[in-house]
Parts: sequence; C-alpha cells; structure tokens
Amino acid sequence: MKQAFLPLSKNFQVGKIDKRIYGSFIEHLGRAVYGGIYEPTHPTADEDGFRKDVLDEVRKLNVPIVRYPGGNFVSGYNWEDGVGPVSERPKRLELAWGVTEPNTFGTNEFLKWCKKANSECMMAVNLGLRGAEEARNLVEYCNHPSGSYYSDLRRKHGVEEPHNIKLWCLGNEMDGDWQIGHKTAYEYGRAAAEAAKVMRWVDPSIELVLCGSSNSHTKTFGDWEAQTLDLAYDKVDYVSLHQYYDNKTDDTPSFLAKSMEMDDFIHTVVSVCDYIKGKKHSKHDVNLSFDEWNVWYHSFDADKKIERWCTAPHQLEDIYNFEDALLVGLMMIVLLRHADRVKVACLAQLVNVIAPIMTENGGGVFEQPIFYPFMHMSNFGRGTALVSDIRCEKHDTKEFTDVPDLDGVAVLSEDETELTVFAVNRSFDEEYLLNIDLPDLADLKPVAHIEMAGYGLKDTNSIVSAPVHPTNAASLPETDGRTATARLRPLSWNVLRFKK
Ligand code: AHR
Repeated sequence: MKQAFLPLSKNFQVGKIDKRIYGSFIEHLGRAVYGGIYEPTHPTADEDGFRKDVLDEVRKLNVPIVRYPGGNFVSGYNWEDGVGPVSERPKRLELAWGVTEPNTFGTNEFLKWCKKANSECMMAVNLGLRGAEEARNLVEYCNHPSGSYYSDLRRKHGVEEPHNIKLWCLGNEMDGDWQIGHKTAYEYGRAAAEAAKVMRWVDPSIELVLCGSSNSHTKTFGDWEAQTLDLAYDKVDYVSLHQYYDNKTDDTPSFLAKSMEMDDFIHTVVSVCDYIKGKKHSKHDVNLSFDEWNVWYHSFDADKKIERWCTAPHQLEDIYNFEDALLVGLMMIVLLRHADRVKVACLAQLVNVIAPIMTENGGGVFEQPIFYPFMHMSNFGRGTALVSDIRCEKHDTKEFTDVPDLDGVAVLSEDETELTVFAVNRSFDEEYLLNIDLPDLADLKPVAHIEMAGYGLKDTNSIVSAPVHPTNAASLPETDGRTATARLRPLSWNVLRFKK
C-alpha cells in the first residue's frame, strides 16, 4: 500500500469560502424548467406548479445561488415575454436551442421557486440582441421598490416587494460565434461597461459579472479577458469562466487529469485580472465567477435528432457515470483550492440538462452519480479552505504529465469545531494510506469516512435503480493524537470528517 501525506494547519489558509461557490444553473433549455422544476400537472406539484420531489432534491444539494435564465438562451430572450398574465405571454422561436419557448414560466415564477429552494437568483441580462436599455429596465423591475414604470409594473403583476437580486451577469459567452449577437472583445467590453453603468445607477448595491472566455481553448482566450477588462474593469466585480470536460476518446487517466487544466485556467484568469488592476493603478479587485462547469458529452449524438421548434425536448440529458463523479469531485477540489479568488461557481446545470437531478415527465426523480460529490462539498465544505498540499506519487497520461495520484482539499468550519477533507484517489490499482498531520487541530477526532468506491467506471444510475451512491468506508481513520490515517481505495471519492 502506498503512503501519502497531508500536512494541515489552521494557520495556513487559502481563504474563507464564499458559499456561492456551491451555486448551480437553470436555463430555459430542454426540460430544466418545463418538466424539471416546473410541471403543474405533476402529482407532486405545489400550488405554484413546482415539483415538490425536485425541490426536495435541490434542498439536499443546499444550493445557495442559481443562475438564470441562460446560458445561450438569454442572448435572444425578451424578459418582458415572461412576466404578467400567463395567457397574454407570447410563444417565441428560441434560436439558441432551436425550440419553441412558451414563456409560461418567467422571472417572477423563478424568484418564487428560488425562495422555496432556499436559494438566491443570479440573473443574466441579454447583451446579445439587446443592451443597456433592457438591462436597466430589468433591474428596475426586479429591484426598485415602487413609484416608477417598471417597479409599478412588477407590483401590477402581483409582486409587491422588490426581489432585490444582488448578482447579475452581463450577458453570456459573448466571445463565441454560436452566441446570438456574438461580439468582438471591443464591442462587448463597451456594451458591458455601459450596461453595468446604468444598471448600477438604478441599484448601486448590485454586483456584476463580466463574460470571460467560453472555455480555455478558444483562440481569443487571455486576450478576450485583457481587452474586455481594460474597457470595464472598475465597473465589474467578477469575470466569468466556463468549462466542460469530456471523455470522448475513452482515455480515463487523461479525463481524470483534466482538473489540472482547470487549475491552470483559473491561474491565468487571476493573472489577467491582476495585470489590468496594475495597469490601471486600481485599488479594486476583480474576482472569478466560474459560472458554468461540469462534464458534458454523453448527449451529443441524441441531441442531433431533436425535431426543431418542439417544446421542452429531452435535450442535453447526459447520463453520468462513476468516472464523471470522480472528475466532478476533482473539479470542486480545484475550485476550493482557489477560494481566495473564486467567489461564485455554478454546476451547470441543476435539473435534467447536464444535471445531477433527473426527472421523468409525470413520474419520478433520480440522483446521478455526480449528485454526491456536489452534495458532500456543499454541505460539509463551508468555512475556510486550508492550504492542502498532498504529497503522493505522480503518473503520466496520454495528455498530461506529473498527475498526482491523489488530490484533495481540507475545509475548517468557521467555529473550528469541524474539519472535512475531500479527496480523490485517481490511481486505478493503488490503495493509499493518507496520513493527515494535524499539529494544531489534534482535538478534532474522526467521526466519518464516506466514500464512493468499487464501482465500474461506466456505472450509472437510472429511474429504476441508483447503484452508484456513497457508503460508509469499512473503518474510520485511525489516529495517534496528531496524525489521522485513512485508507483511500483505488478510484475513489472520499469525505473524511473530524469533529471536536
Ligand atoms: O450549459 C449549456 C450551455 O453551455 C449554455 O447555454 C452555454 O452558456 C454554454 O455553452
């Protein structure tokens, strides 16, 4: 058995974890809304048409913020279509995904759903086909108390109190030519700066996210961030990052190493933000909003067969397997390792569309394997991320060199009475003894070792059965007072919990 070491101290901290790092995303896409969170004819639907079985699952994930309404969808969306009497709302051709949008669900319905899910809304405005004018109107509609056209319109629509949405995205993936109203960096930087200016004039308390690159492989990556930040730096609080990984070549060792690429991606964007800060002699920090991340590729072929202009088709319905759960855990470890700069992150998405939660129209619900690492980290990973440098052996894959066999991160609760170590063993055949050295945390005793291990890499869950799920490990970590030692099985997700 191999040995690994993780020295931890409460004095060596990455930083306080912003709970919004456990955010997610609901787009008007496929069955995320219709048949997902909203299905008025469903046996569990509440008085607002929200599926209670889905709400229960979302609450298990403890999602503090949900991005809405897109995604690519937002770049062609008229928010006015989704408010007011439902019978008067127009059906529209939705160009981003080639479907018909009924608009029977919109802003006020989503905000109501958020309350029931114990979440806040992260609202995106359309900077594709629209601009500063419609964006500032939406802020007025949502956040202004009363006495103006749009705030009174909201009240007329039955919502007396303002929604007070704090976090706003200035468009979506504007660097990509697939985006409705795609722009050059200069065009977008100017449009975002002007929208930001007037949105903040309506409500100075809001926070704003500038669109960064759609992924780290685009031709314009780096330069896009530099140019757009140069034009909008002092007007925004965050820059966005998006990244989806796949295992199309069926090369699992490389697939599991892709979180290293995510780590580099974050480093680069932090560097660009700080370069522009220096260049402008600014005192203001721009942090990171990793507002789309996940595995996405299983549904590519099925999606090619979707009939155009239908409503709420089975779209982007990836069925995730065990190796996807391992990579999702690894990606979350990377996010926490950068908790000093990554303040917001959204698992894309939440229900049915590349999602941890799947439903049947009119039927049941099930948890995909990726549900569990997210649930563990969102529930146990609150507090302070500690510097977590695991010393273990490394290996090479076809695409990466020096991949550590183990990766992990430790989180200390705010009151310092709980410590949780999240760790993945990437090795296919080596069991590891992880020795966690806790010189100034020795009064914390092991109380749980939850693991996901022993599954086939391609094992999945379904509406009929969910074999891929976490269990308690055979034994708790052993402790000699200062060092706790846990067994990490090959290809495993591990949650080691310590309490005073
Ligand atoms: O999450 C699915 C899509 O991925 C989003 O609409 C878009 O922003 C990204 O390309």
